[in-house]
Amino acid sequence: MKKILARQSKKIKSLIKQMAILSDKENCSVFLVGGFVRDLILGIDNFDLDIVVEGNGLSFAKRLFNCLGESIVVHKRFATATIITKDKLKLDIATARSESYASPGVLPEVIFGSLRDDLKRRDFSINAMAISLNGSSFGELVDYFGGKKDLREKRIRILHDLSFIDDPTRITRAIRFKARFGFSLDEKTEFLLKQAVKKRLLFKMQKHRLRDEIILLLKEQKPAVYIKELNRLCGLKFIYSGIVFFPSLDRLLKTIEKEVRWFTNSQFSKRQLEAWLVYLIGMLDGLTLTKLRKFCFEYALRKKDTKRILSYKNFMLKKERKLHEVLKPVYLYKIMSPLSYEAIIAVLAKENNRTARMNIVRFLEEFHTIRPHINGDIIKELGIKEGPLIKKIINQVHNARINKTIHTFDQELDLVRKILRIK
Ligand code: CTP
Repeated sequence: MKKILARQSKKIKSLIKQMAILSDKENCSVFLVGGFVRDLILGIDNFDLDIVVEGNGLSFAKRLFNCLGESIVVHKRFATATIITKDKLKLDIATARSESYASPGVLPEVIFGSLRDDLKRRDFSINAMAISLNGSSFGELVDYFGGKKDLREKRIRILHDLSFIDDPTRITRAIRFKARFGFSLDEKTEFLLKQAVKKRLLFKMQKHRLRDEIILLLKEQKPAVYIKELNRLCGLKFIYSGIVFFPSLDRLLKTIEKEVRWFTNSQFSKRQLEAWLVYLIGMLDGLTLTKLRKFCFEYALRKKDTKRILSYKNFMLKKERKLHEVLKPVYLYKIMSPLSYEAIIAVLAKENNRTARMNIVRFLEEFHTIRPHINGDIIKELGIKEGPLIKKIINQVHNARINKTIHTFDQELDLVRKILRIK
């Protein structure tokens, strides 16, 4: 692996060098592990490094932080630490451990152990390899479970029969890696995954863990494929009763992919779009408003995400919205501006009507970013006291800008003077 390490970016190479020096100084064995090693072999960039220390991981982490860290968060209970380096790389450092699971779906109890123990407790063979960073063994691949062969043969394989029972998040993780890399599930792994699904383990998972897994799935490139595969292997009811993978949902998710691509590639690309949320809105499209509220509550979604999801639903429920007619700019602005980008893109994906689509695109392209140049302070300088009148005037100016009857600051000022009857 030395050659592959030598091909990494400067930042990564210097970090690895620093860790190698420190591990020899501290007299502990330090290894790169997990997804970073997998991606290194696949030739995929990964800036999140997982480190396992045989010895005292926390003391190693603190020393490393002193050399090159920008921030550090220590989790004493798990003897782990997360460092963000000055070069903005993320490092998760853990003391080698074995784990035992009290019951499915909860976090494991931690017992310290060897590197082998640590790798053995992991999800799949492709994620259970390590690279030594110590002295003469620097750069050597540690592959106890045939991970490299599985990578070569494009296979996702669990390491022991109880893996999915111990940790049901591995069910969705298996689907994620399978779809991401275009791999297949090893035969026994697929059998055991289906057994775990039959045992309804996904239904027993803690909601916040399930939420995090679903979000990870939706953050992948082209999530429609992932959801289809998730449905094939697990159904979608475990996410929420009422979510069914009808062909219409498949179509909607694919259309969302298209619209997200359009949005991010268009002139709006500088605007932040949380694409995963658009897919979630799509996935929840069949739920009633009441169920949707319950979903957001039970999954403890962030307030702003709940608001975006519900605003989409409310918009779609309001049939008086006249999106199917050519709308006056000010009215179009009025009905669309309360929606977030995520909700707007979901509406766009849902709409087949040409006029409706034209209205939405027009809103995004022409009106959405229009802001008056004048502000309250300027109006006050014209002798108007603080109060609701100022907001009213700004609204009128804003409307005139949207209607394109005025364009410049001077024209705005003229309009304010006209409204106030000032010569
Ligand atoms: N892991 C595990 N079981 C889990 C979650 C994680 O065994 N349920 C192990 C795997 O070895 C994994 C490592 O912890 O490689 C790091 O986990 P994570 O960062 O979630 O995954 P990555 O493999 O790095 O995947 P990604 O590329 O999606 O970040």
